[in-house]
Amino acid sequence: MKVLIYGAGMVGEQIYRNIKDEHEVVGFLDSNAEKKGRLVNGIKILGGVEALSGVDYDRIYIASTFWKEIKKALMEAGVDEDRMVVDIPEDVDSPVRNTFLECYAKLFAGTTLAAAEGGVFRGEFASKINRCFPDSKLYLFDTFEGFDSRDIEVEKENNYSNPEPGNFSNTSVELVMSKMQHPEKIEIHKGYFPETAAGVDDTFCFVNLDFDLYHPILEGLRFFYPKMVRGSVILVHDYYHAGLLGVKDAVSDFEKEFGKEIIKLPIGDNQSIALVKE
Ligand SMILES: C[S@@+](CC[C@H](N)C(=O)[O-])C[C@H]1O[C@@H](n2cnc3c(N)ncnc32)[C@H](O)[C@@H]1O
Repeated sequence: MKVLIYGAGMVGEQIYRNIKDEHEVVGFLDSNAEKKGRLVNGIKILGGVEALSGVDYDRIYIASTFWKEIKKALMEAGVDEDRMVVDIPEDVDSPVRNTFLECYAKLFAGTTLAAAEGGVFRGEFASKINRCFPDSKLYLFDTFEGFDSRDIEVEKENNYSNPEPGNFSNTSVELVMSKMQHPEKIEIHKGYFPETAAGVDDTFCFVNLDFDLYHPILEGLRFFYPKMVRGSVILVHDYYHAGLLGVKDAVSDFEKEFGKEIIKLPIGDNQSIALVKE
């Protein structure tokens, strides 16, 4: 079967890996016009819905948390619903980001400086941080009940994204803890960030901010940046996400507050930016 994958981010890559032996993937689609023409695993990003005419395909896999909007756009473009498949994996994994983490952690081999993740969901990436930094205390911040309505309001007011209250509620502290290789190093902060950061006073060598939304990302930068050691990295996930526009704005607003541009390096996963502490 000839297949198109709508969504050229981490979810799209994961779906590609899942189906490539079974189907012929003839192209990626993505609503972000900047991605048009780029290659993902050697396969071209053809463009958005407008790129469909002239492409020979049997099925479109929708690979994005914004699947409802994409499905609507495809139907408006005349695509039959029977040709669409929505199959979003719950745990998204990026080999590129994993390799970055493994190589980065080698720079801090044996460290007892702390690490943290803001936005843990089901603990997939957190378990990798725990494995790569076996001697570091790992602070994990999440509501473990999905997005908070206060943050959703900010998203909607600013047209950053269109999240729903139930998003990411399918998790638990127990599930996350069951994935950890060094559970004694984990400190869970359950609830609304930044409120749950009160009283945390540590020095960090690695932080992954993966809250998705403007307000907690900005608060995460305010909280962690001053606590990072020189040369260490805060990874901000979704910086390049075309449907989560608040993430980039949060970084830019933090820089304005800080009064200085922060050194930024893309890590090559199409999603994350590394902010280097000077
Ligand atoms: C994309 S998921 C994180 C994915 C995770 N890093 C992984 O490896 O699979 C985003 C998470 O951020 C959490 N979150 C968003 N805003 C939050 C806030 N203000 N306080 C606490 N958690 C928040 C959500 O509950 C959700 O679990």
